[in-house]
Amino acid sequence: NKTANQMLVIFGASGDLTARKLVPALYNLYKGKHLPDNFVVLGLSRSNLTDNTFRKRVVLESPYLKEALKGENQDFVDAFANQFFYEDLGDDYDVSYGKVNTRISDLDTKFGTGGNYMFYLATPPNLYETIAKNVSEQGLSDESSGFRRLIVEKPFGYNLKTAKNLNKGLHQYFNESQIYRIDHYLGKETVQNLLVTRFANSIFEPLWNRNYIQHVEITNAESVGVEKRGGYYDKSGALRDMFQSHLLQIVSLVVMEPPINASAEEIRNEKVKALKSLRIMHDEKTLYDNTIRGQYLASVIDGEKVKGYREEDGVDPNSKTETYAAIKFFVDNWRWADVPFYVRTAKRMPTKVTEVVVHFKTPHHQVFNDVDINNMDNKLIIRIQPDEGIMIKFGVKVPGQGFKVERANMDFYYSSLVDNHIMQAYERLLLDAMQGDATLYARADEVEAAWEFVDPILDYWENNKGVKTYGYSAGVWGPKNSDTLLEGNYTWRNPGEH
Ligand code: BG6
Repeated sequence: NKTANQMLVIFGASGDLTARKLVPALYNLYKGKHLPDNFVVLGLSRSNLTDNTFRKRVVLESPYLKEALKGENQDFVDAFANQFFYEDLGDDYDVSYGKVNTRISDLDTKFGTGGNYMFYLATPPNLYETIAKNVSEQGLSDESSGFRRLIVEKPFGYNLKTAKNLNKGLHQYFNESQIYRIDHYLGKETVQNLLVTRFANSIFEPLWNRNYIQHVEITNAESVGVEKRGGYYDKSGALRDMFQSHLLQIVSLVVMEPPINASAEEIRNEKVKALKSLRIMHDEKTLYDNTIRGQYLASVIDGEKVKGYREEDGVDPNSKTETYAAIKFFVDNWRWADVPFYVRTAKRMPTKVTEVVVHFKTPHHQVFNDVDINNMDNKLIIRIQPDEGIMIKFGVKVPGQGFKVERANMDFYYSSLVDNHIMQAYERLLLDAMQGDATLYARADEVEAAWEFVDPILDYWENNKGVKTYGYSAGVWGPKNSDTLLEGNYTWRNPGEH
């Protein structure tokens, strides 16, 4: 695909996201010759920078590019850096837009970016609407002389009400087709591969339903704590930070019906339908029985002392905010009736891993003795990160007398398929937006449907004094109580354990 000449205008350009994610992604796109011939980046923020100091900060002296730039030809690197420009917004995100407009049109004329502008909101979310309004008031959302797109970062809203308000607010200034809501999990190869595994093969989909699937388990574990983001995280928690966005996106791809084609609208129509079929939990008993909230406690990992969540900078010492969330739920539709879904996400787990485990039912008549269902049920494991791949676990006969059954694995690793660079999430997503492909971006109704499911849980957790936030030592697989969520003899599959 050819990418049209364009300008990327980043609001919040002196922030962490720009330097850590966006610029390295742009650099890889530049290296891979994916950027258009005429391309410039205009950074905007409240920091007092010039074109040159901005270039130094995000490119030439950036710690996030240091590794990548080692040994590179200096002219090649300089040519990349010289595409970056900066404009100081002064004290306020609500003024100075006349100046921004003038700068944009000067750069457009000088570098031939064709009147195509992409505005990236890498600022705190409370500024999204203000920026959209000001941009639009300068006539910059009008597409009569080029495309005008708005990329919006997560978190998209704080709850259902604020997400709806934000959608409404943005829609006053930009059409839905101009808005790209980023969820970087959708940029991950293995998340997209969920679609291909399901719908480009004939051997999985016939089994992908309540007749053959016992339950579905999704684990998202991080070994890190809240790092330097205690202030943000304490007001957010795992349910908002990960579950509402990344995990429900994965759920929607596991649950959805086959789309009629792979267009952005058709895929997203099916995802919305999937999200709308999640059974919303209203009454306290259901919420009590199906949700577990946890928080990591101080511990020693590999001989090193690790702080408890409440001791982290920016965190309220009495905080009840969860760093662990496990939710059991059902999907009320023809395909999934009565199949439990168990989804958990947490910080300070033993390892960093994200995987989907589809547990198939055991054969309805046991011919052989000694079969331990927790170990012997057929599992399809889709490893999203790290060691991206797919694994099938099935029983085979142990050679020798009798019929002793043992589990065998059939493994596929992505690394065996690619020997060159795999695009990272932000690279892929930026390039898609540059080309006007919104397939991997969340649509307004999709985000709202996800909040619709999450809202009652948040409300119950935050406003019901009886709700416990269970402690777990940093470095273990969450609070003990989370085991009670699973039905029958099943336990969580802790990657690496069984
Ligand atoms: C972000 C969350 O969206 O995703 C972070 O805000 C989290 O808290 C991160 O650490 C995880 O992303 P990844 O790609 O490392 O799994």
